[in-house]
Amino acid sequence: MTDDVASHYGGDGDLSNAIADSLRRAGKDMDRLTTADLATVDEFHIRARKATLEVARSLNLAPTSRVLDIGSGLGGPARTLAETVGCHVTGIDITQAFCDAATTLSGWLGLSDRVDFRQGDATSLPFDDAMFDAAMTIHVTMNIVAKDKVFAEARRVLKPGGRFVAYDVLQGEGGDVQYPVPWAREPSISHLATPDEMKALLTDAGFRILEVEDSTEEGQRWFAEIAGHLAKSTPAVTFQAFLGNDFPAMAGNQVINLRDRRIRTVTYVCEA
Ligand SMILES: C[S@@+](CC[C@H](N)C(=O)[O-])C[C@H]1O[C@@H](n2cnc3c(N)ncnc32)[C@H](O)[C@@H]1O
Repeated sequence: MTDDVASHYGGDGDLSNAIADSLRRAGKDMDRLTTADLATVDEFHIRARKATLEVARSLNLAPTSRVLDIGSGLGGPARTLAETVGCHVTGIDITQAFCDAATTLSGWLGLSDRVDFRQGDATSLPFDDAMFDAAMTIHVTMNIVAKDKVFAEARRVLKPGGRFVAYDVLQGEGGDVQYPVPWAREPSISHLATPDEMKALLTDAGFRILEVEDSTEEGQRWFAEIAGHLAKSTPAVTFQAFLGNDFPAMAGNQVINLRDRRIRTVTYVCEA
């Protein structure tokens, strides 16, 4: 199952080279890249950097915080926290190609000293108990059956009182998901929890839920804004760099899935 997930995301070849080629073709100076230049490819979730900044606020961070990002992808969310708060973020992800690219992209932005990435499984974290002040997971558990293990592991590696924020895609009340979607080309690697299941899973793992925020409608508005931007100009690089030619269909289905409430996006702010 985890191999299927990694090959869904992994793409072919060296991802950071493919991203660099796209950026150069768009006339970007690789010595003067900014977080904004990468945000269209490295914040791989609905509402992108805006959502990450909301998660950051809910995590109650200080520059001295040690933060864990579970399912860190290309490292955009980790770098956003490191850059805006000054804290240290460790990312873990099942997809080796993403971990490698996350490390390279962090070097381009001069953030290598504040982030690190390693390959691993969210259901069995390679960290000691109570190592982190805060943890987050953004659009990850929809690929994982054993969400109970993910949340138990997040709880274990957090210091008592530490914040955990899960921002996820959930099963909505509007029917089955229309595929392909960015996290799955077909249903075998898609495992969406309902909002009620999510609450029970987090509570059973020992978290106190402090806040629940449904951003489904905001997600719809965000997609409409993106469509408006795309009508005027094409970004230097997009998720197509690793999702390939399926990406336009995936994005189209996200709009339909949100509109029909086949999916919902919800953020859970929790305390260990
Ligand atoms: C949609 S991406 C989100 C990446 C990142 N959180 C972001 O928002 O930019 C989902 C990520 O979850 C990772 N993932 C899926 N199953 C995982 C598992 N069992 N353990 C760790 N990472 C996993 C994938 O490799 C992928 O990078």
